[in-house]
Amino acid sequence: GKAIFSGIQPTGVFHLGNFLGAIKSWVDLSRSAPENSPILFMIADLHAITVARSPEKLRKQRWEALASIIASGIDPKRCTVYFQSDVPAHAQLHWILSSISSMGYLNRMVQWKSKANLDESASLTNSDLTNLNLALFSYPTLQAADVLIHQAGYVPVGEDQSQHLELTRHLAQAFNFRFGETFTIPATVLSPHKKILSLRDSTKKMSKSDPDQTSCVYVTDTAEEIKTKLKRALTDSVQGEITWDPEQRPAVANLLSIAAGLQDMEAPDFLAKHPMKNHKELKDTVADCLIESLSPIREEYNRLVSDQAYLESLANHGRDIAHERTSGTLEKAYRAVGYL
Ligand code: TYM
Repeated sequence: GKAIFSGIQPTGVFHLGNFLGAIKSWVDLSRSAPENSPILFMIADLHAITVARSPEKLRKQRWEALASIIASGIDPKRCTVYFQSDVPAHAQLHWILSSISSMGYLNRMVQWKSKANLDESASLTNSDLTNLNLALFSYPTLQAADVLIHQAGYVPVGEDQSQHLELTRHLAQAFNFRFGETFTIPATVLSPHKKILSLRDSTKKMSKSDPDQTSCVYVTDTAEEIKTKLKRALTDSVQGEITWDPEQRPAVANLLSIAAGLQDMEAPDFLAKHPMKNHKELKDTVADCLIESLSPIREEYNRLVSDQAYLESLANHGRDIAHERTSGTLEKAYRAVGYL
């Protein structure tokens, strides 16, 4: 079978967007994948330094990311989990791919613009350029290298990553055309929860960097924290019975899809099973679902973060497998461009 591959940045403990949009779909996919399909999940610590962060913080967040992934249900016996910086082939292929990445194409990518606090449609001014680092600009090319170095067939992600995967396919095709058949063209596997919204503003996605931290539920939040955040969650002005209406009631729909997603249900089915008379009932129901689904993850996470020896053994094992699985493709690419 073709390899399944995805990545996540070590920005600390994961929120519901990461969990429902990525990790949970990784877990589901890894359980249903054919036995002979390799499955790899990478902690994108090279990508992490595109936005300034203290070394102490990064050092800590790498291990927190690994513990969160395992605590969320990824089986380390079935899946390879490793740190990007442990496997040099990512950076090596990135350099080669950067030679066929056009600045114009990279300039159309929207995610780095939001990270650099620039308007998505803005063209760059000289003062933007002064504040923009090269790594943030070439971030999507590194992401393409991550996927292509594994010859991945399937890449499960949330919606915000689809543009990067289009670039990935574009670079694979351009490389294959110019240097001969080298890379598998990967398919994007969009999570059923492709966009979880902020609890405080349904025009924004749930994000770790949101200054209003009540907008974001972390997988390690305690029952008390979950209750408080749900109490403050935005709903809408429609009074009375809760209905499923993502267009007119986006904040209510977001809460419903979170609760339904945690129970592997479609939101309308969840609503049919739990009819709710008003916003308060909705918030209580969603809080209960969250507490029930997240408390085992929180407990497992707390156990794992204090077992550094185990985490290190997992990381070393993952590094060795990822290294072995990428060296053949790197050699192929080196040969194709004329190094060997
Ligand atoms: P990152 O770390 O921002 O996000 C990890 C995954 O979580 C999904 N996600 C969401 N899904 C739904 N709703 C949300 N509010 C939400 N927030 C985050 C993302 O879509 C993603 O799937 N560049 C990548 C990491 C990466 C990568 C890769 C991914 C590096 N190399 C290769 C795939 C393949 C990133 O920053 O994801």
